[in-house]
Amino acid sequence: MEIFADTADINDLKEFSSWGVIDGCTTNPIICVKSGVKDFEGHMRQILALVPGPVSVEVTTNDLDEMLAQARIFASWGKNVVVKLPMNVSGLKATHALSRDGIKTNVTACMSVKQAIIAAKAGATYASIFWARIEDMGYDAGTVVRETREILGTHGMACKIIVGSFRSVSHVTQAMRTGAHVLTIPSDLLRQLPWNPRTESTINEFLEQWRGFHKEDDPLHPDRLGKK
Ligand code: E4P
Repeated sequence: MEIFADTADINDLKEFSSWGVIDGCTTNPIICVKSGVKDFEGHMRQILALVPGPVSVEVTTNDLDEMLAQARIFASWGKNVVVKLPMNVSGLKATHALSRDGIKTNVTACMSVKQAIIAAKAGATYASIFWARIEDMGYDAGTVVRETREILGTHGMACKIIVGSFRSVSHVTQAMRTGAHVLTIPSDLLRQLPWNPRTESTINEFLEQWRGFHKEDDPLHPDRLGKK
């Protein structure tokens, strides 16, 4: 399973890259606005240089010709660019055209199995299924992801499922069980993944016991380590 960081924040991307846990990054117009991105090309080029894996850069239009023009410019910024296109007819047409030119695509805002499958048929490299927004409508997001994964596998379709739109760690752990190829997780939730109160108290208990026993003669103190 791959994990992408669902953020355009450079400092967050540097931090999560240092953890060794992210395989790529996804951005969208809201994420870029929230990160205060003004120089879009300059900022995306920074991300593309920082994150070696796939970086989704989303078009900001529903017009087909404008989509294709933006997509081809984005694709020129780096080999790891994935052009993010809306799940609608223009988005499908753009996906079909761009996939034939070898440009990787991520069809986004999929809320149902049929949308994800039609995106795969159009040649999408990724289909992004929106967990929280599906749940907000009263449907079971896990079922949408599992059924999509089953159909893709049954027919040997190469498209990968990205699950995004998470609002809780519980959403993330539920999505981990669905067989999704990729989870794209926002910074605030990514930060919570290593943490557990019992883990923290246990590690502190270990250290307190060790330091209590080896008060002044800690053999593993940096000044003594390896100096027998
Ligand atoms: C993926 O990158 C999606 O654009 C993102 O996860 C959407 O999240 P939202 O539904 O909270 O806007």
